[in-house]
Amino acid sequence: MDHIEPRENIDLRKQRAGSRNAIVTGGASGIGRALAEELARTGVHVVIADRQLELAAAVVAGIESRGGTAVAAELDVRDPDRFRQVVEEASAASGRLDYLFNNAGIVVAGEMRDYELADWEDVFDVNLRGVCHGILAAYPLMIAQGHGHIVNTASLAGLIGPLTLQGSYIATKHAVVGISRSLRVEAMRYGVRVSVLCPGAVRTPILRGGRYGRSKPNLDLAALADRVERFGAIEPALLARRALRAVARNRAIIVEPRVARLPWYLDRLSPWLSEKLWHGALRLARRTGAE
Ligand code: NAI
Repeated sequence: MDHIEPRENIDLRKQRAGSRNAIVTGGASGIGRALAEELARTGVHVVIADRQLELAAAVVAGIESRGGTAVAAELDVRDPDRFRQVVEEASAASGRLDYLFNNAGIVVAGEMRDYELADWEDVFDVNLRGVCHGILAAYPLMIAQGHGHIVNTASLAGLIGPLTLQGSYIATKHAVVGISRSLRVEAMRYGVRVSVLCPGAVRTPILRGGRYGRSKPNLDLAALADRVERFGAIEPALLARRALRAVARNRAIIVEPRVARLPWYLDRLSPWLSEKLWHGALRLARRTGAE
């Protein structure tokens, strides 16, 4: 990976005395942006950590115009040293970090038949290693302070086995669910909370590949995204409001929108029926846009 030189330190003067603070990775767009905006609305000082620094700065400007406080930090979650630095800077003023949202993610859409090595590795590096880097950077501080909440964004794709057309993404999201559930139990002893956010379809750029994702040539991602958006995708702001309510209640696994819980329950209740259902969905997708 290309190493990202930290350009600027985080401006620590912005945090108001006594306010809670949070780091949101992937906070420049989509779900991360909505989480950051909702956190700021409730008085949390937010570090918006993203590869897209300009977009992150625009989110900060929006938050500040509504009376909140936030700062932008350039972060590639694939870089563990930079992640540690962002955590150190974010916690320097108050000596603590209340929340880490490990949210940055990418997708390579397509059948595994068409995958190359990079299609596995690129997604593992961001979605899985990025989450591990966040835990390495923030968890020791949270243990030392005796509190804190790590919220990892996985996906419904991390809960349901037979979903298709995004093999490396599905692998990472299952792994993130596993890491989160295991860490939650280990962390209880230290007063640290861990939740995993598993959204269904949300109207964000990732549905069409996003800034750093892609789709394989045999797949018409735009056609599939149109279909997903038409049937049941929700707005990121609504997801963020509901997700943060569940975080406040320290829910272990947060699945939103509620309708997304049905396929999850079905998959647990009858793996056989679930496989039939998702096989049907794949056949439909192949007619829509996947050869
Ligand atoms: P998005 O494409 O709008 O946002 C992703 C953000 O992550 C972007 O701001 C991007 O710059 C940032 N990012 C990508 N690689 C990065 C890296 N190496 N370091 C730092 N930042 C990086 O997509 P969205 O939907 O907001 O995705 C956020 C999370 O939600 C992802 O983990 C995704 O897998 C997950 N998710 C999204 C769903 C959806 O339907 N939109 C459904 C389920 C989960």
